[in-house]
Amino acid sequence: MEAAILNIILEVQPKSMGVEDLGCSSGQNSLTAVSQIMHKVVTASQKIGLPIPELRVSLNDLPGNDFNEIFKSLLELYKNVKNDYGFEGRYIWGLPGSFYGNLFPAHSLHSVHSSSSLHWLSQTKSTALH
Ligand SMILES: C[S@@+](CC[C@H](N)C(=O)[O-])C[C@H]1O[C@@H](n2cnc3c(N)ncnc32)[C@H](O)[C@@H]1O
Repeated sequence: MEAAILNIILEVQPKSMGVEDLGCSSGQNSLTAVSQIMHKVVTASQKIGLPIPELRVSLNDLPGNDFNEIFKSLLELYKNVKNDYGFEGRYIWGLPGSFYGNLFPAHSLHSVHSSSSLHWLSQTKSTALH
């Protein structure tokens, strides 16, 4: 993840960076990946000497997921990132829907993360290869 983010910051130099966590769930681990990604973006930008990009972060899971539970923890994350880096250019929202469907407009994402979701699938889908 660190190498991938460093590469994006270096090669793309986005002013506004789209980050996604597919299958974020709700509970203790829901913001772990996003928080680590934010940390890596800030440290990679500082290391290279580029401005920290604005972060557009969406948290995806199925509509039945308890997004309100996650939202309650967001203020704490915002506070930590501000205290640690003085960084406030982050925008985080919930994105209910299956990751089998269309979730994003074209060219809106730079980094897509998913952990422990592929063995927890809501459906299986086979794709015919031609
Ligand atoms: C085991 S949890 C993983 C939570 C978190 N990513 C982690 O690593 O701790 C798996 C999550 O994937 C979600 N999931 C499964 N199929 C999905 C789909 N088609 N679209 C979006 N989320 C899905 C489930 O609802 C569940 O919350």
